[in-house]
Amino acid sequence: MNLSSWADRIYNEVGIINLMKDLGNAPAIAGDRPLYMLGGGNPAHIPEIEQYFRDQMEQILQTPDEFEHLIGDYAGPQGSNRFVAALADLLKANFDWDVGPENIAVSNGSQMAFTVMFRLLSGQYPDGEPKQILLPMTPEYIGYNEADEAEIRFRSIRPNIMTTSDHTFKYEIDFANIEISDEISSICISRPTNPTGNVVTDDEVSQLMALANKHDIPLIVDGAYGLPFPSIVFRDATVDWNENMILILSLSKLGLPGTRTGIIIARPELIELFTCANAIMTLASGNFGSFLTLESVKNGKILELSREIIRPYYQNALSSTVASIQTHFADLPYMLHEPEGAFFVWLWFPGLPISDNELYEILKKRDVYVVPGNFFFPGLEGEWTHRHECIRISYAGRPEIVDRGLQIIAEEVRCAYRETKFAVSAG
Ligand SMILES: Cc1ncc(COP(=O)(O)O)c(C=O)c1O
Repeated sequence: MNLSSWADRIYNEVGIINLMKDLGNAPAIAGDRPLYMLGGGNPAHIPEIEQYFRDQMEQILQTPDEFEHLIGDYAGPQGSNRFVAALADLLKANFDWDVGPENIAVSNGSQMAFTVMFRLLSGQYPDGEPKQILLPMTPEYIGYNEADEAEIRFRSIRPNIMTTSDHTFKYEIDFANIEISDEISSICISRPTNPTGNVVTDDEVSQLMALANKHDIPLIVDGAYGLPFPSIVFRDATVDWNENMILILSLSKLGLPGTRTGIIIARPELIELFTCANAIMTLASGNFGSFLTLESVKNGKILELSREIIRPYYQNALSSTVASIQTHFADLPYMLHEPEGAFFVWLWFPGLPISDNELYEILKKRDVYVVPGNFFFPGLEGEWTHRHECIRISYAGRPEIVDRGLQIIAEEVRCAYRETKFAVSAG
């Protein structure tokens, strides 16, 4: 069958599609054997959160006409009006942001919001000049890569690598290498960063904001894991929205990925453009996430749940994950990125004799699924060995699964290092 170039492009995203197929096939391949799914971005099932939203659902069912509105009415062009207004009030009251309903839109998942925003800001401009989005620090979210369609382009910068202890490090933005030329239309960071768990510091954000202001371009902040909710952030950090920031939030990591709800907070012109694009692409955003969280947005419970249930839950999971790493990898030359947020650990194996893709295949044979690091460098030009020496591991799953999975990863990494030592000494 003859299809478009776009069909060609998505079909040729072989790497990521194969990873997704692997995840889908894993249960059948493992059969009765235990499976260690440390690869995906699914949030944990946190009982208190699930109970809270179950109660909210019951409330909706018991309120006359509420359920009928939820299922029976298209939302307005910006999303549910009540939700948008309540969120503006919450943000104004709690953070003193100068936002009104005209600054907020709801999308069908935040991934969709990125696709639209990246299309609005990059590619061909009417004056004939193509523009790019600057990712000031890779590794960055794999999903930006998938949005990298013919007319979307990124320019990415390698980070500085700061060693913070014998076995830990942190990426920092290499400001000396950042140049905002005329082709740059905007700057984008995820904070916390998926895959590394890095939380770009307040100072780094201020510097990026200053650069954006100076060049009159927006700073896009992907807060899918961050502030003000779900607040999976383990270090001091704040976010201070202003008209030149496009803050994109999500209900997914709050525990509601199935509702497919993203939120865009931006200047009114961009919100209007987004709603036009949304109408063309999906007609209207779904109601489910907005209805389910409306009460918690109105009374501030969404912030309280984030602070008091979600953050401590992942902080606990992180502590046991770090303890497992310290036990299982003790004799190995591993480096762990400072886990400052989200629910991933990013392990770097300097001088690893096999590539991250090879390690992935070896681990797959042992029913352990991680994500090879090389996928997280959208738009980075030039070869960089480091890119093939890292893997991302999710610790959102059950602690015993994470622990045993890490043990198997350590065994295979040990094998890889040993075999080379053997080959070198044998040679
Ligand atoms: C950094 C980051 N941004 C955005 C998204 C998209 O999330 P969703 O479309 O579920 O809101 C994800 C999903 O994993 C993510 O990790």
